Amino acid sequence: MAGGETASAGALVKARAAEVAAAIDTAFDHLLSVPDDARARLYEAMRHAAIGGGKRLRPLLVQATSDLFHLSRESALRVGLAIECIHVYSLVHDDLPAMDDDDMRRGKPTVHKAFDEATAILAGDCLHDLAFQILSDEETHPDPFVRIELVRALALASGPAGMAGGQMMDLEAEHARFDLATVTRLQNLKTGALIAFCVDAAAIMARIPEDARKGLHGYARDIGLAFQIADDLLDVEGDAVLAGKALGKDAAAGKETFVSLLGVDRARAQAHMLVDQAKAHLRGHGAEADLLRAIADYIVERDR
Ligand code: IPE
Ligand code: IPE
Ligand code: MG
Ligand code: MG
Ligand code: MG
Repeated sequence: MAGGETASAGALVKARAAEVAAAIDTAFDHLLSVPDDARARLYEAMRHAAIGGGKRLRPLLVQATSDLFHLSRESALRVGLAIECIHVYSLVHDDLPAMDDDDMRRGKPTVHKAFDEATAILAGDCLHDLAFQILSDEETHPDPFVRIELVRALALASGPAGMAGGQMMDLEAEHARFDLATVTRLQNLKTGALIAFCVDAAAIMARIPEDARKGLHGYARDIGLAFQIADDLLDVEGDAVLAGKALGKDAAAGKETFVSLLGVDRARAQAHMLVDQAKAHLRGHGAEADLLRAIADYIVERDR
């Protein structure tokens, strides 16, 4: 893609992402009002984790895919909010001393640092629960069959066949010597499954039959992998202040990643190749898929 095109893709993502981020913050603010009882600390911890600082890439992806099918922005926002709940819960637990033991997240102290470990575990648990509360609510989609499909798909993407399974493999990657195929599977589960759900959720809401979702699934798989390669590259050569989290952690932990296996240059080339491949999956779509194309570019060009 030419430099000018990339710049306008960046502007498109930036404008829409800012809109989505503001809407997500407002929604969390409403959902998580702090009760005047002994649970206040739990709500405060959930607010600390969920409000402010994230790129909100996953809710943006739901919006972008919903644009393809002319779905309501309100439904897309609620589904994006549910995904963000799962994502934030995964970050709170990922940062715990038992996992990555991190002190900073989104430019703020991690939840267990700002509060304590027990509160962080509970805040993560409750954000997980909140995701399914949101999806199963009539306001998300009027059709109960659609709602149950959303719930099932998010459960699959989050559990042992998705994010949590990938996190387990990621812990093993500190000790085992994984080959490229195994690291690819790890990343597809750890990061890819939830990103794929963002795209799939819009197709579910639009009642697009499974066999007509192949292009979208290909797009999602490619950007999911590119996204995690970019995260691993940032861990090696990013700016911790911009990223809002500690970097250099993967190598310090002796963790097998795309970067450890391929080196920085080949990993970056692989990420760019995946982005081109992702955009090729959208070739049947016109301008209505421009935001999806722009997101694919943004994923590898981001500095945070
Ligand atoms: C970080 O995700 C964790 C990974 C899955 C690699 P993001 O880079 O989307 O983090 P936020 O939401 O912007 O903080
Ligand atoms: C975390 O991956 C992914 C999930 C929370 C599912 P990382 O451990 O690489 O994420 P960062 O680098 O801490 O954001
Ligand atoms: Mg981790
Ligand atoms: Mg981590
Ligand atoms: Mg990382």
